[in-house]
Amino acid sequence: MPSFYNKSLADRLQAIAEEAGLSQEEREVFSGVGLSLDGADHMIENVIGLYNLPFGIATNFRVNNKEVLVPMVLEEPSVVAGASLAARLVRETGGFVASSNEPVMIAQMQILDLVNPHQARLALLAQKVRLLEFAATTDPVIMKLGGGPRDVEVRLIEDSPVGSMLVLHLLYDCRDAMGANTVNTAAEALKPMVEEITGGRVNLRILSNLADHRLARSTCVIPTSALAFAQFDGEFVRDRIVEAYAFAAADPYRAATHNKGIMNGVDAVVIATGNDWRAIEAGAHAYAARSGRYTSLSQWGTDNDGNLVGTVEMPMAVGIIGGATKVHPTARAALKIMGIQSARELAEVIVSVGLAQNFAAIRALATEGIQRGHMSLHARQLAMAAGAEGAAIEQVASQMVQEKQVRLDRAQALVEEIKSYIPKDRSYD
Ligand code: MEV
Repeated sequence: MPSFYNKSLADRLQAIAEEAGLSQEEREVFSGVGLSLDGADHMIENVIGLYNLPFGIATNFRVNNKEVLVPMVLEEPSVVAGASLAARLVRETGGFVASSNEPVMIAQMQILDLVNPHQARLALLAQKVRLLEFAATTDPVIMKLGGGPRDVEVRLIEDSPVGSMLVLHLLYDCRDAMGANTVNTAAEALKPMVEEITGGRVNLRILSNLADHRLARSTCVIPTSALAFAQFDGEFVRDRIVEAYAFAAADPYRAATHNKGIMNGVDAVVIATGNDWRAIEAGAHAYAARSGRYTSLSQWGTDNDGNLVGTVEMPMAVGIIGGATKVHPTARAALKIMGIQSARELAEVIVSVGLAQNFAAIRALATEGIQRGHMSLHARQLAMAAGAEGAAIEQVASQMVQEKQVRLDRAQALVEEIKSYIPKDRSYD
């Protein structure tokens, strides 16, 4: 999509609608006719209105040899541009190569009051087939789609604040659903059987967001020549990026921010497609701490030819059926724009966007710093907050950037100045 950035908003929508074959109705969800008040009222409680966020498209993405337009919903400037830039550089070596596990979720059951937890654990394992057969009866729809319970694991926790407990993990393939309802229903239904087998008492029955059986991973290669920009040569940029990664790998304080950069990309697509971004956030950070020390979710290094190589792996429990993915008209349109066929494919694109975003952030941080790129977009937001409209937004923003005074008070002064020389009966755009 060359020059997509320079097109007007209307022309961008037109280009995407044509590319994705959106109907008139699907097009309209982007003009403020997305989720209806009535729809919202059925989604959560005590609704009084809607909350809007910008919906952008990251371009240039090629994942597993497939072109994909990436919808991103977020409020932060530079993210969509950063992802698109990274994806353009990665295209030079054919795009992102991504893969994922089967979409297996974990449902946890907490089992207490056990006379002999070791014996109870073995009793559960001995009855695995019975447990799985029963769990297979709780969601006929997922079973029909080829999903269903896959395994039972039982962990003994000996030193909890209330003493020892068993934790049963029911592993459940949720196919194209995120699967929260499916696995929670199965775990709740299993309670009497688990109590009968163990002689104990089941307390919590809920999925784990540390969905480490449902990982998605992506890798990319960027030639050193493609890394050169401004006064920086390719080797310099590559080496600084590897150093930036080393910082995040070794220091949890830096890792938190490094991973936040990844989540800028991940969450934006998760939200655009109507998925549960809190679940994804929880899983990502728990996974980043799985060794006992919080660390980077991505890795950056070089290959034999000196190219920059990035990798990322994280839990990615997203669905394309059920929940908001189907109910929210904008989420439905987002999935259509992506041309996604399965939850796994969506997960693979999402982690690729996370890796792209991470690259864009550390490339900027390790070279010119992020404030320059950030500032011009931030300046536009300040101009709007100060009351600028239409062409005045750009005028106020570029003046502030030029003056290196990107602040609300300066934006307000400039807006007042512009207003003062525009006749009262005319709009100033
Ligand atoms: C800002 O939203 C994200 C960054 O802080 C990420 C990073 O530091 O790597 C730029």
